[in-house]
Amino acid sequence: MSRTADTPAPVRITFDGRDYDARPGESLAAALLRAGVPATTQRHAPGPARGAFCWMGWCQECRVRHRGRWVEACRLTVYDGLTAEARRAADVR
Ligand code: FES
Repeated sequence: MSRTADTPAPVRITFDGRDYDARPGESLAAALLRAGVPATTQRHAPGPARGAFCWMGWCQECRVRHRGRWVEACRLTVYDGLTAEARRAADVR
């Protein structure tokens, strides 16, 4: 991630055990997409993985586990130390 004098320092996030840099103020879904991780859920095993679709909290395709709760990654603003996990097929009832 390149920085200029006006660019705030990146924050460190962890998704599924891997660390990524994110830009302060962006959503988790945006940070993951920029990092090359478009899928946040494996909804229909053995179907394709899913990721953000509507980007406004409606479709639920981007749900991740964060602090023990299911949240939409497109509506979760990153912060330093954020940790989240992908939704697995076993998590969907
Ligand atoms: S992308 Fe639709 S709820 Fe997040």
